[in-house]
Amino acid sequence: MSKIQIPYINLSAQWEEEKSFLLPVINDVFSSGQFIGGDAIEEFESNISSLCNSKYSVALNSGTDSLVCGLIALGVKRGDEVITPPNSFVASTSSIVHIGAKPIFVDVLDDQNIDPIKIEEAITHKTKAIMPVHLTGRIANMTELMKISRKYNIPIIEDAAQSIGSKYKGKFSGTFGEVGCFSAHPLKNLNACGDAGFLITDNFEIWKKIRKLRNHGFEKRNVVDEFGYVSRMDTLQASILNLRLKKLENVINKRRRNAEIYFEALKKLPILLPFEKPHEFNSYHTFVIQTDKRDQLKDFLFQNGIETAIHYPVPIHLQPASSYLRYKKGSFKNTEAQANKILTLPIHQFLENSDINFINDKIIEFFKL
Ligand SMILES: Cc1ncc(COP(=O)(O)O)c(C=O)c1O
Repeated sequence: MSKIQIPYINLSAQWEEEKSFLLPVINDVFSSGQFIGGDAIEEFESNISSLCNSKYSVALNSGTDSLVCGLIALGVKRGDEVITPPNSFVASTSSIVHIGAKPIFVDVLDDQNIDPIKIEEAITHKTKAIMPVHLTGRIANMTELMKISRKYNIPIIEDAAQSIGSKYKGKFSGTFGEVGCFSAHPLKNLNACGDAGFLITDNFEIWKKIRKLRNHGFEKRNVVDEFGYVSRMDTLQASILNLRLKKLENVINKRRRNAEIYFEALKKLPILLPFEKPHEFNSYHTFVIQTDKRDQLKDFLFQNGIETAIHYPVPIHLQPASSYLRYKKGSFKNTEAQANKILTLPIHQFLENSDINFINDKIIEFFKL
C-alpha cells in the first residue's frame, strides 16, 4: 500500500495557515449569539457582487440550492425541459429533477463543456432554461450560448459552482445568464467549513424572489405569500468566507502557476491537456487531463504517493437514478469517452513547485515505460 505524499487536496494545511485569524472570527460569532442573518451575510453578498461585477447576490446554504432557487425564480415548472450536460456533478441534474422538470442532456466538446451546436437540436417548445456547467473552472462557450438564448428567448442559468473568479472574454463567470449559481463547498476554491453557496443576478425581481424563497417565503415577519425553503447561509460560514475572499485572488493565481508548470512539462506527451484559450481566464478548480491509459496512470501515480481523482467516473445519464429518462450507453459519445480518460491531478494552492515537478517526473516516467 502506497503512502500518500502529495494529497489531492489539503484542508489541514489551509487550517494551519488560517487558524490564527479564523479562531477570533469564530469566537466573535459564538459570543454574539447571531448564527443566522446579520452583518456578515450582507457583507458577504456585497463582497460577491463587487467581485463578480453583478448587481445582486444572495447567500444560500449550498450550490445545489442556488440551482434549485434559480430555476424556480426563472419560472421553470413541473413538466418543463431544461438542457444541461451529462458530465457534471449530479447536483446540476438533481436540481432540475427536484422541481419536477425534465433534464435534457446534450453532449460536450473536448473542453468538457456543453456543445452549443447540439443545444439547438435539443430545443423543443417545452425548453424553459439552458444550464451550462463551467466544468473544472473553465467557462463554456458563452458567445454561442447567449446567441441561442436570444434567438429562442430561453434564459440561461449558469452552473458556476466550480468557476468563481473565472473569466471569458473578460467577463466573469455567472454574469452571462439570468442567474449564476455558485458553491462554496469545502473543496471549492472559495470554500466554507461546511455547506454554503450563493447566487448572482442583475435582475431585481429574481433577487427579491430568491431572498424570500431562502427564508420560508417570508415577505416580512409572519407574512408568507408563497411557501419557501430554509436555505440561508450560516452567519459563521459567511464570516469565514468574508476572510477567505481576501485570499481568493492569490489562491487562483497560485493554481494558475501550478497549471503552467504542468503545461510546460507535459505538453509533448500523448495527453490532452486543458490548455487555456486566449479569451479564457481559468481558475483551475480542477486540473483534468485526458489519456487512454488513465487507469494505469492513476495506479502508477498512487504507487508513487500521488493522490488523483476522477470527476466524474459515471456520467449522469448512466446513473441508476436516471433510468426513467431512458438514455442508453452510447447516447453521448464524448461524455462517455471522456469518463474513461479523465484524470484530475492535484493543483491546490498548498503544493510546492517541487511537488508538481515530482508529479510531472512520474507522469513522464510512466509514458516511457
Ligand atoms: C458543477 C457542480 N454543480 C453543483 C454543485 C453543488 O454544490 P453544493 O455541493 O454546494 O451543493 C457542485 C458541487 O460540488 C458542482 O461541482
